[in-house]
Order: sequence, then structure tokens, then C-alpha cells
Amino acid sequence: MNPVIVVGSFNVDHVWRCNELPATGATIAGQYMTGPGGKGFNQAVACARAGAPTTFICALGDDPGGALARELAESDGIDLRAEASSEPTGTAGIYVDARGRNSIVIGAGANGVLSAGHVTADRALAGEAGVLLAQLESPVEAIEAALQMAREAGTTTLLNPAPANAPTSMGLLRLADVLTPNETEFAAQLSRHVGERIEPDAVAALDGARLHALCRKLLPHGTVVVTMGSVGVFVSHAEEEPRGDGQPYYRIGAESVTASDTTGAGDAFNGALAASLARAPGQPFATHVRYANRFAALSTERAGAAASMPRHDEVLARFPG
Ligand code: RIB
Ligand code: NA
Repeated sequence: MNPVIVVGSFNVDHVWRCNELPATGATIAGQYMTGPGGKGFNQAVACARAGAPTTFICALGDDPGGALARELAESDGIDLRAEASSEPTGTAGIYVDARGRNSIVIGAGANGVLSAGHVTADRALAGEAGVLLAQLESPVEAIEAALQMAREAGTTTLLNPAPANAPTSMGLLRLADVLTPNETEFAAQLSRHVGERIEPDAVAALDGARLHALCRKLLPHGTVVVTMGSVGVFVSHAEEEPRGDGQPYYRIGAESVTASDTTGAGDAFNGALAASLARAPGQPFATHVRYANRFAALSTERAGAAASMPRHDEVLARFPG
């Protein structure tokens, strides 16, 4: 199988589970836990556990968080290429309420200084890779350089435009062969680049032809996969794409599981999608999406972000056929 390169963030997640998210000025009680996170690392762990040889390019501080990243990458067999930073390793403060909803504050730290030079240091690697996967918790110049490098090498590019408030340009989005926003990120990109104002809550209910038309405006020459949590995903292909399987757009429902913690579910989806595309690039795109849906569903049954990623054989055992 061709390797996958994941470029992005590592955070030490500090998580408090509480009944309700705290209101301004309130002090409430919660249950604390800590563990590895960061959209980049979560996606790299998902990708490796889904069975792909995985390289993770990131920036780490010279501190216990950085050491944790190195130790965990090694135990998951991830080839870690970390830029050494004098900034502290990234952190996230996460509140999760009784319904599994969360609020997150990011301390970018070292993630905020990941450089384009570090990301593009090994161009030969990009040529060997089947897929390069990135998100937007790192400087946009570094992410753009990574996508550009992969594009020049003929490697499939996946961009998860998360979080929604990260700066983007139409030029950045168009470096993606596959763009994977959730509803909030989709609405944010549409309002920024297409001049369409749609409430995130209204996205799932939009008519398929209308959603497809919006996706085409955002990424005329690539695939857009809008992830919609428990509703499933909407896929829109460009007309000229070989991966279109004859159908320009379609929905694929989510697997039904009892979610206890959805933190990192989007990351699970993206990492598994990248691994599946690298494993069998010739298979219909819907097959990869179905696998990623299953992988993500299992991750929501477990607490934590990176720690909640299932393994390939667990996914096959739970969802045979
Ligand atoms: O996508 C979930 C992740 O977002 C968390 O692990 C947290 O670190 C933030 O980056
Ligand atoms: Na989880």
C-alpha cells in the first residue's frame, strides 16, 4: 500500500465532562481527563490504525507534551517528522456536555510555527505517497506548501478545512482533490468564497441538486464530502472525475451506534478515508466513504480523541460485508 502523509497539529487535550457547558461567569464541576489530540495527530492515528503506513509532519515543543507525541507515534508505528520548536507543545481545553456536545479552546503553541520549509523538506516522500492529508490548525502557508508539493508529485490531496474560522483562500481550497468540510465549515467557506449565506443547521436538509451546485462552486474540479454527524455524508463529484462512479452526487447514511464522545469523530473519518484511498485507489469512492463512516462511528463509542480510534480489524469485525 502507498503511504499516507498527514500534515498538521498535535495537542495535549485537557477534557472536562460536565452536565452543561459553563455559562459566562459560572463555576461548575466536571470530570477531568487528559490525552493526545490535535486534528493532525488524531487523523494520523486513525490512518495508521486503519492500516496505512503513515508519516506525520508537525511541530512540537521541548516538553512533556512533545515527548508524549513521540512516544505515542512510535507505539502506533507512525513515522513522526517533528519540527523542533521553542514554543510549548499545542494544547486544547475541551468541555464535553452530557449530550456529547463540546466547546474547544486551542493554545496553538508549536503548531502555530510549523514552517513551509519543514513540511516540504522531503519531496521524495511526497512522490512515494498515495495520499497527503491536511487540516487548518497549522499556519496556512505551511498547509498550502504541503498541498502544492503533493500536487506537483501527482499525489492525491485531501483537505479537511477545520476549524471553520481558519483563514482560507479559493487558491488553497483548489489544491484539494478531495475537500471534507463538516456543515459548519461548509457554511463558512460558502459565505467566504461563494457569497452564499446558509445556516450550518440547514445544510443537511438542502435538496441534493442544490447541495451539489454549491459544492461545484466551491471546488469545481474536485470531490466535496460534507460530513453531517449522525446524518451521514453528502458526496459531490466533478463532472470530469473518474471517481464519480457514474453518479455526480449522493448521500451515504451514518452507521448507528450509541455515541458517548464525538470528539475526534471528524478526524477518524478523514484519517480512515485517506487510508482507504491509499489502500485501493481504484475502488468506487463510495466504498471509501462507507469504510470511513464505520471507522468514525466506532470512534464515538470511546472516550478521548486520538485514543478513541479503532483498528482496521475491529471495523471489519463490527461491520462485516
Ligand atoms: O478534532 C478534535 C481535536 O480538535 C481535539 O483533539 C483538539 O485537540 C482540537 O484540535
Ligand atoms: Na471519541
